Amino acid sequence: MQLLSVISSYSSCNNGAYSLPAQGNLKKEAQNPVPKKQHQLKYLKSLVPPLMAAIVTLSPLCNTPVSLGQTIDVQRGASLFRRACIGCHVGGGNIIQPGATLFTKDLQRNGVEAEEEIYNLTYYGKGRMPGFGENCTPRGQCTFGARLQEEEIKLLAQFVKLQADQGWPNIEESSED
Ligand code: HEC
Repeated sequence: MQLLSVISSYSSCNNGAYSLPAQGNLKKEAQNPVPKKQHQLKYLKSLVPPLMAAIVTLSPLCNTPVSLGQTIDVQRGASLFRRACIGCHVGGGNIIQPGATLFTKDLQRNGVEAEEEIYNLTYYGKGRMPGFGENCTPRGQCTFGARLQEEEIKLLAQFVKLQADQGWPNIEESSED
């Protein structure tokens, strides 16, 4: 039964806070065809799973704390990163300078773990990294490619920081935007 699987997948996030007594009964009925006179009752019971699913879904117990405080547009950050940064920083690494990855330990050692530092570095560049800001100077230090808006660099800095905090979990490389 489809509904039962919906319920059990939801119930896995409530740590057993809700018991679902209807499950066992419904399973049995699904196996043994119900006599006609019980049809009405079966209909009523079949309403239980969607109701429970709704309650469980709406329950605050299911909101994982991870989603709190993450107000940045990760999707867009990832898309910008793929467009401008991934060439040298694939997976948060650094193909040009292995000691300057985007992982927290390197960011800290190089004194650029603050979001503001990441912003400045991305705006003006550093060493062999080109700057991406619209007013980046001198020319030689700045990207030959399309410049990024301040707001885009800010989002990138937030994105890089967030990814570093999480150890650079894989970002979708296939989705197009
Ligand atoms: C052409 C290659 C290249 C591209 C493209 C590039 N970077 Fe870099 N990045 C580097 C290099 C090289 C360094 C090391 C600079 C140094 O410390 O001298 C670096 C360093 C950094 C650092 C500091 C890392 C550390 O541990 O010190 C951050 C943050 C960073 N890049 C972010 C970005 C972002 C965001 C983008 C995209 C907008 C980007 N980079 C695009 C080459 C690149």
